[in-house]
Amino acid sequence: MSHYHIKSIAQFNQATQEAKDNPEQFWHDIALENFMWRNTWDTVVKHDLTMPSVTWFEGAQLNISENCLDRNLAERGDKTAILFEPNDPDASAEKITYKELHKRVCTFANVLKSKGIKKGDRVCLYLPMIPELAIAVLACARIGAIHSVVFAGFSATALATRIDDCACKMVITSDGSYRGAKTIDLKGIVDQALEKCNGIESVLVVKRIASEILMVPDRDFWLAPLLAQASDICEPEIMDAEDPLFVLYTSGSTGKPKGIVHTTAGYMVYAGYSFKNVFQYEEDDVYWCTADIGWITGHSYIVYGPLLNGATTVMFEGVPTYPDVGRFWEIVAKHKITQFYTAPTAIRALAKESLSLVEKHDLSSLKILGSVGEPINEEAWHWYDDHIGKNKCPIVDTWWQTENGGIMITSIPGITESIPTYATLPLPGIQPCLMDENGNEILEIKAEGRMCVKFPWPSMARTIYGNHERYKETYFASFNGKYFTGDGALRDELGNYRITGRVDDVIIVSGHNLGTAPIEDAIDQHPLVAESAVVGFPHDIKGTALYGFVTLKNEQGKDENELRNEVNDMIASEIGPIAKLEKIQFTQGLPKTRSGKIMRRILRKIAEGDSSNLGDISTLLNPEAVQDIIDNAF
Ligand code: PRX
Repeated sequence: MSHYHIKSIAQFNQATQEAKDNPEQFWHDIALENFMWRNTWDTVVKHDLTMPSVTWFEGAQLNISENCLDRNLAERGDKTAILFEPNDPDASAEKITYKELHKRVCTFANVLKSKGIKKGDRVCLYLPMIPELAIAVLACARIGAIHSVVFAGFSATALATRIDDCACKMVITSDGSYRGAKTIDLKGIVDQALEKCNGIESVLVVKRIASEILMVPDRDFWLAPLLAQASDICEPEIMDAEDPLFVLYTSGSTGKPKGIVHTTAGYMVYAGYSFKNVFQYEEDDVYWCTADIGWITGHSYIVYGPLLNGATTVMFEGVPTYPDVGRFWEIVAKHKITQFYTAPTAIRALAKESLSLVEKHDLSSLKILGSVGEPINEEAWHWYDDHIGKNKCPIVDTWWQTENGGIMITSIPGITESIPTYATLPLPGIQPCLMDENGNEILEIKAEGRMCVKFPWPSMARTIYGNHERYKETYFASFNGKYFTGDGALRDELGNYRITGRVDDVIIVSGHNLGTAPIEDAIDQHPLVAESAVVGFPHDIKGTALYGFVTLKNEQGKDENELRNEVNDMIASEIGPIAKLEKIQFTQGLPKTRSGKIMRRILRKIAEGDSSNLGDISTLLNPEAVQDIIDNAF
């Protein structure tokens, strides 16, 4: 029997052991017993992590939308699949049953086909958190098109880069979006992006805010009339196990964003398995993950994981602060949420507000709380535990990455122990390890090192779109034959992992992954900027915030605050508001090694407010720059 649903500590231990001893059998059983296959596989896994090349379930055929939808029709046709909570608290929530969702996905899929989208084509989704986003994701999957969801907070330039990189043929967007009290002109952003892109043949537009927008003839089409004409029957495209399912961009420490490619069968098996165990979903539960589908958390734990398990998954369009900072708790009470999954940055922001905003809502439906995206500090953990979970809900601190496809390290509620600030133990089937500076695996249990994974798992990314060499270089070159996460971690004597943070130039701000290089590139585009360096520093709410050191060209004389705003506007237009700098310090120069490399270590210390112990700076090319920076630091 498979270990799809782990229900006891004995089973957890047994599953962990079996998955290690015989991963083929472990995943074979899980895949066979819990999913719908048109054809089963010839081999469970083939791998060579030095190439790197990995396949799971080769030879199998399936369709993931069929697994999410058709499979649930008989037993759960009238159950709510998606529960949509709009931005406006007075507007009514929408309950979409599995039957309705199936029809809407099929109809949407037929619209895609009518616009020439075929298996293997890339479709860019730039949409707010409305049901059409989940439906479009599933419609792409139904016909074998590869979805590339771009978070609707990214700028036109960032969107254009992502559209071009994977050569999308179509964009699906809306006339605008609601965000708290504001509306955002999404279609205008798409229009701007498309001025820079080739390849796009059509744009489908969902009407959401009924604003006046430009519709380019023969390129832009309102979705509603197309849906009205389309049939609601659409046979699923039969996909091979390793056919790509989606591309999702994530920041790298250098260069342009990486189009992480996930394939069909392995991703499905792991998304389903991890959701079931981490959230211990039971049939009548109402599960809510507050992420945006523009991130991996939304892909795996709003759409695919829950639907693969026949769950009711909540989609929330708005923001935690509208109409007031009690909105999350109001929604929990209103829909009797049982599992609530959010990010530490949201917890920290809400913990700052009056407790009365929590206490006026009945949170007694909650059973399990989750955290994702960055380390959760002890204070936030306890606030979450005391005031939201009332000390009766296990907290799962889930560590994973876009590249992983699903949760890797976490406690299992009610089964393994939650420990504040520790993600704790790997899920059965996941084999993390810690590496030392010399590239050797640290065998002592209690240790600190760089975290790698030494055996493949079904939902690992298979490549970077169009750049397999970069995939190899980024993830497999540092520790030959192992997947390098880019994170550092501690391991206690019981094998529990505590993630200490990134060891590269990726900075996690409010749970969003930001590479320093693209931000610096954006700053350097300002005509008065000579060069810049961006580092992170601890921030109460964001976890880490961005501190920019900027050296200007000679022709100065401008007001510094005005310049700061211009630099941030530059970043917002190149990347998006999420990458704006919290602090900008203008400097005479940046500390450099004799070979001209910026010494970020020194800048990091100064940004953290700890300039007492900078180490030996006498070997720098320009040690005098350091004192000047210290004197003028915030
Ligand atoms: O540094 C780790 C941090 O987020 C990075 C992955 O970011 P992203 O690909 O955007 O995916 C985020 C959501 C899955 C990791 O390398 N991270 C994620 N979860 C945790 C975390 N750090 C500490 N604890 C976590 N629970």
